[in-house]
Amino acid sequence: MADLLLGQVLSFDGDPFVLGPEAGRMNEAVVVDQGRIAAVGSAASLRGAYPQARVTDYGQHLISAGFVDAHVHYPQTAIIASWGKRLIDWLNQYTFPEEMRFADPTYAAEVAARYFDLALAHGTTSMCSYATIHPASVDAFFEQAQARGLRAFAGKTCMDRNAPEGLRDTAQSAYDDSKALLAKWHGRDRLSYVITPRFSPTSTPDQLAAMGALWAENPDCLMQTHLSEQTDEIAWVKDLFPQSRDYLDTYEAHGLLRKGAVYGHAIHLTPREKARLAEAGASVVHCPTSNTFIGSGLFDMGLAQSLRVGLATDTGGGSSFSMLRTMAAAYEVAQLRGQALQPSQLWWLATQGSARALRAEHQIGNIAVGAEADLVVVNLASTPAIEQATRRAEDIWQAVFPTIMLGDDRAIDAVWIAGRLLL
Ligand code: GUN
Ligand code: ZN
Repeated sequence: MADLLLGQVLSFDGDPFVLGPEAGRMNEAVVVDQGRIAAVGSAASLRGAYPQARVTDYGQHLISAGFVDAHVHYPQTAIIASWGKRLIDWLNQYTFPEEMRFADPTYAAEVAARYFDLALAHGTTSMCSYATIHPASVDAFFEQAQARGLRAFAGKTCMDRNAPEGLRDTAQSAYDDSKALLAKWHGRDRLSYVITPRFSPTSTPDQLAAMGALWAENPDCLMQTHLSEQTDEIAWVKDLFPQSRDYLDTYEAHGLLRKGAVYGHAIHLTPREKARLAEAGASVVHCPTSNTFIGSGLFDMGLAQSLRVGLATDTGGGSSFSMLRTMAAAYEVAQLRGQALQPSQLWWLATQGSARALRAEHQIGNIAVGAEADLVVVNLASTPAIEQATRRAEDIWQAVFPTIMLGDDRAIDAVWIAGRLLL
């Protein structure tokens, strides 16, 4: 049976970085049927067109596409908010010991379940995750995503150097294990395998080349890695790859730069790197709470003019599971760079922008006819602080902005996955 949802239904006709706030459009109703968006329009017209539909009235709540978190490490769920380190020390002190625990498939399954429960409670309906080097950690992620009916992306993190004993694979085993996982999961239900070398410091040139070869054999997959997050890391890459022009070149030289490449962070880029990323049709992902929390730097949102830019929590380098908190941090980081991002741009980044970065914009991230019906229902007055700030709003974006800046999981009233009420 079709469902007719009433509320303030937000759709995007295009990119607000190009079209301005008019790219966002409000309607009164959306119909979901057989997992997809069947119609968007006025309440009267859709009640007339779908007289049999089951009606749920969400009043003044905002009905949006679910949030798409374009870069997370689900195995880092338990180490979120670990104090006082910068990237390389943070990896060695907190991340690698925790990722070591994923050698135990029972632990991997437990954390994966906890991660998905948290993500959904925060309104995140799709995510692109790194697993650990252990193939069972990929199985754990996809099994939990599949059980919840989610569109989700992930891959085995590959590392064959500069990581502790027990957390290293080899060029050959990384290739073999990734290939087997890809064959097992890619395209099954709503799941996509992502080829995942962690970053140049933890992969030998041989391993990067093996990942490039696997990607060439499976061109429709995404490939994710990290790029230019901290200045110390960039200096290290320069030492490790003396023949490379720059950090991006370490990927390009091994077949890891083209359409479908998704680079996390991408903060300290040279003009050449920016131009090459755009030319190649690659995506970058802004992780603002992580970039401030780990002290990495201020992302240049000007990149949205030439690149597909996604938004992400970077759990657990990031300091929140909430894409609302992440939008607030993106706003603050842009302010520090002299740019005031509009609420429509922030919301678009957390939905359609991230979906575009993952090349899934026709499936997720927007309430458009034919798209998959992953929806989040947002209470725009979820706390007394937010409620009093919205009272003087004169338009929908003024009403949404206090929730962007002050909101969290308390604002998430309901979550629909593939046309079914999940939460
Ligand atoms: N660079 C390489 N690995 C990681 C990671 O796990 N988190 C972050 N923030 N940066 C990385
Ligand atoms: Zn990351």
